[in-house]
Amino acid sequence: MSAIDGEPVADHDPEVLVEVTGLEVHFPIKSGIVFDRTVGHVRAVDGVDLTIRRGETYGLVGESGCGKSTLGKAILNLEPPTAGSVAFDGVDIASLKGEALRRERKRFQMVFQDPMSSLDPRQTVESLLLEGMRAHGLDADKATTHTRLRELLSAVGLPAAALAKYPHEFSGGQRQRIGIARALSVEPDLIVADEPVSALDVSIQAQVINLLQDLQDDLGLTYLVVAHDLAVVRHISDRIGVMYLGALVEESEAGELYDLPLHPYTRALMSAVPVPDPRVEDTREQILLSGDLPSPANPPSGCRFHTRCPWRQETLCDTERPLLRVVDVPGATPGHRVACHYAEQIASGELTRHEVTPELTTDGFAGPQGSGPEPPPEAYVGV
Ligand SMILES: Nc1ncnc2c1ncn2[C@@H]1O[C@H](COP(=O)(O)OP(=O)(O)OP(=O)(O)O)[C@@H](O)[C@H]1O
Ligand code: SF4
Ligand SMILES: [Mg+2]
Repeated sequence: MSAIDGEPVADHDPEVLVEVTGLEVHFPIKSGIVFDRTVGHVRAVDGVDLTIRRGETYGLVGESGCGKSTLGKAILNLEPPTAGSVAFDGVDIASLKGEALRRERKRFQMVFQDPMSSLDPRQTVESLLLEGMRAHGLDADKATTHTRLRELLSAVGLPAAALAKYPHEFSGGQRQRIGIARALSVEPDLIVADEPVSALDVSIQAQVINLLQDLQDDLGLTYLVVAHDLAVVRHISDRIGVMYLGALVEESEAGELYDLPLHPYTRALMSAVPVPDPRVEDTREQILLSGDLPSPANPPSGCRFHTRCPWRQETLCDTERPLLRVVDVPGATPGHRVACHYAEQIASGELTRHEVTPELTTDGFAGPQGSGPEPPPEAYVGV
């Protein structure tokens, strides 16, 4: 890619494939029968900075509606950002036009949660695979294309006979393999997989995850994987970002996030993951969060988590939005970033948990918290 094709980003690190800076995606809320008035915005993604290194798997977790899919789409240029930028291989995607954008697009592909709805039921597998190849001029020679189609199917563990069949003739796991083959057909560098196994039977999930890992090893792919199953994310990811209400609240190397979760929200997520050893399960910390996720159309002030945080303090929490920062906590490596004003004091035990009493508002739960005993067993937070 030359500077003529798009704006190169200054000081680009060649190890970084994707660089997201200050990304915001706000959807307008419309009202009115005659005149379409914009009465507000859903802040689906609201200030995200992250980098994805070449060849790594970056896992993204967080509750439903926190903006994971929107972030994934914005990275793939499928959702225009309201603010901020996405640089792919050192080039600002927004600066690309026409042929340069089309060429660059083939380098990033998406694998969807539900392969049945993402594959046109009227097309054969051959036609589905050819579609993308044609769009990018990768089907010039008939014999080479023929070989390539067979290679693609073999890479995802399907027989060549699958080419003549239609999506409904396959099982869910096989259809996801077709979805992956389709993404691979244009030889991408980055694949964004949005809940790639959550629609599959548990027995099939491991096969598809192993396939994604094998393909990464063979083809040097980079992945952004969105998944709500924390066990899946841990298994597949090198690094993990935890999202809450449109922003990252914690980011770390995968093992470290599970061993040393530092943000109160991550600690609550981790405490809801079942541990196979009953002795550990009985003694470990369990953090129960009360209240729903506030509306992204009207997010809380200051720290967005303050309406549900069992460590919330009188100062800073509801007035200043915490930055995602490297924290000074024993055992935390420099890549471990946390968006909490009090991460160090919470980790050291200087600050202790208190009860959170949610108040019902028009947008869900929000309200003041007080000090008191351990919280009642209301609800585990889940993703
Ligand atoms: N096209 C759109 N127009 C308006 N609002 C949208 C649009 N797409 C997403 N949203 C809203 O943006 C917020 C984030 O949605 P998103 O789908 O990114 O969340 P998610 O984390 O992927 O959730 P899930 O885990 O349920 O898939 C939600 O409140 C959603 O309703
Ligand atoms: S900044 Fe305050 S409210 Fe936010 S997570 Fe930290 S302690 Fe909780
Ligand atoms: Mg989603």
